[in-house]
Amino acid sequence: MKLEGRKAIVTGAAQGIGRGIAEELARAGCDVLVGDLLDRPETALAASETLSGIEALGRRALAVQCDVRLEEDCEALVRTAREQLGGLDILVCNAGVMQIGGVSEITSEQWRRVLDVNLTGTFQCCRAALPHMLEAASGVIVNIASTTGLRTSGERVAYSSSKFGVVGLTQALASEVAPKGVRVNCVCPAFVRSGMSVGELMQQTGIEDPARADAAWTKLGEKTGPLGRSVEPSDIGRAVVWLCESEMVVGIALPVTGGNGLPGLT
Ligand SMILES: NC(=O)c1ccc[n+]([C@@H]2O[C@H](COP(=O)([O-])OP(=O)(O)OC[C@H]3O[C@@H](n4cnc5c(N)ncnc54)[C@H](O)[C@@H]3O)[C@@H](O)[C@H]2O)c1
Repeated sequence: MKLEGRKAIVTGAAQGIGRGIAEELARAGCDVLVGDLLDRPETALAASETLSGIEALGRRALAVQCDVRLEEDCEALVRTAREQLGGLDILVCNAGVMQIGGVSEITSEQWRRVLDVNLTGTFQCCRAALPHMLEAASGVIVNIASTTGLRTSGERVAYSSSKFGVVGLTQALASEVAPKGVRVNCVCPAFVRSGMSVGELMQQTGIEDPARADAAWTKLGEKTGPLGRSVEPSDIGRAVVWLCESEMVVGIALPVTGGNGLPGLT
């Protein structure tokens, strides 16, 4: 599928992996609607930087305030794409939150928040986009899961459970809608540079300065990454572009890890 002139929504694209996806879709020729909370001045500023990045690539960009936990926000996202971008060909459900802790360590509230954003939010965005895609008998959905949605230990029970859910939702939805012309896949990243992952590094190491933590992340990638560097948001973006372009790829969970976790390598 050629991406030139296609219209895409990327949730959680104010920063991090979402921004990398939005920019790579724009590089491939898409106009992009960025859906994010925009609830704090920093997120709003970050979203405007994402928009500038898309526009610098010669594509149209829009930001819409959206909390994926709210069904009406997900529906408004799709409506805005149709009315202001002129359609919707690609939906990337990327918005997500992290919660560290095992079953006996996290609260029920924390469990519900993670499941609400990561799994129910993904479900609601897919459901909002589907009527339009089914009517057109075409469209691509890419969900962002995680390698912890394929295999996990006890450190992040809510997060892993939500991501196993995203992988399952992807497979179920792909089976449901492939015969109607809509393709659904997911990407499973591991350890990508972003606010989420560098924030976790700050917690683990006690580094308080974000710039120092970012430099530590780079060093860690150079030292321990099998390819000698860390995985960047643009690497996930290129995987999303490939999934959008590849017409016979349906219902898969694609790990993008830079080789981390391969037997014998780490
Ligand atoms: N960074 C990693 O190493 C890594 C690894 C595997 C998977 N992931 C997944 O990639 C996705 C992006 O993560 P990231 O690392 O860029 O994180 P991030 O924290 O840097 O960015 C997440 C974005 O999602 C937005 N968001 C959070 N809750 C939202 C809500 N309810 N509605 C709308 N937007 C919301 C945030 O405002 C933020 O802009 C997430 O789904 C995450 O689970 C990340």
